[in-house]
Amino acid sequence: MRIVLLGPPGAGKGTQAEKIVSQFTIPHISTGDILRKNLKESTPLGLKAKEYMDKGLLVPDALVVEIIKDRLAQEDCVRGFLLDGFPRTVTQAKDLDNVLKEMKISLDAVLNIIVDASLLIDRITGRRICKNCGATYHVTFNPPKTKGKCDICNGELYQREDDKKETVKKRLEVYTKETQPLIDYYQQKNLLETINGQQSIDKVFEEIKEKLQGAR
Ligand code: AP5
Ligand code: ZN
Repeated sequence: MRIVLLGPPGAGKGTQAEKIVSQFTIPHISTGDILRKNLKESTPLGLKAKEYMDKGLLVPDALVVEIIKDRLAQEDCVRGFLLDGFPRTVTQAKDLDNVLKEMKISLDAVLNIIVDASLLIDRITGRRICKNCGATYHVTFNPPKTKGKCDICNGELYQREDDKKETVKKRLEVYTKETQPLIDYYQQKNLLETINGQQSIDKVFEEIKEKLQGAR
């Protein structure tokens, strides 16, 4: 399966991505995670990306397209892949089409997770992530068994730098302006599957599995 996950910040893309990749045994490719890893390691790419990420802005298209091109060329993508947080602009979507065309492959489905804007800020500001394995929790909606500790690896949980309220507002604005047009883009290509993200995490995943079965 070759899948793209679309949806506003906080819709549950990362949460569902963990489940999808484990179900279909495909790599999870998150541009946000790749950029944050570079930032942590202070690579030139990470330092460049930080200027944008801290402000809630998108990193320039050329930088992320290059990341994706390299990643899709790796061997583990032969069986398929899940793109999470990419593409995010029409330019990135067109560049992705070109990369896939060169590779002589195409997407199977684009899953658009829909959540009302009023719920997103609470979801993001309550998010906590494991420092060790990257698993995602929520202080209210998906709390770990022991406060501040990961259920899977007992790692410490932290809050993302860009999950502070003011930055979140900017990210939501950027989503509406830059990323929302992709819904039409993929609808026209007949790839779009709409997912109701306002159900329990398990119910959202059930809906995703049903829609993916239809898309195969
Ligand atoms: P990125 O890391 O991609 O973040 P995002 O798109 O803003 O998405 P989030 O990770 O915030 O949300 P999510 O949908 O994954 O939600 P989650 O599952 O965690 O991007 C960060 C930055 O990197 C960008 O601002 C940009 O600067 C840069 N960047 C990345 N990609 C780029 C690109 N392609 N081009 C340019 N720049 C790029 O869920 C949120 C919370 O809700 C969690 O706490 C979770 O436990 C909870 N939750 C999940 N599902 C449910 C549910 N069903 N019910 C209740 N709670 C739920
Ligand atoms: Zn962990």
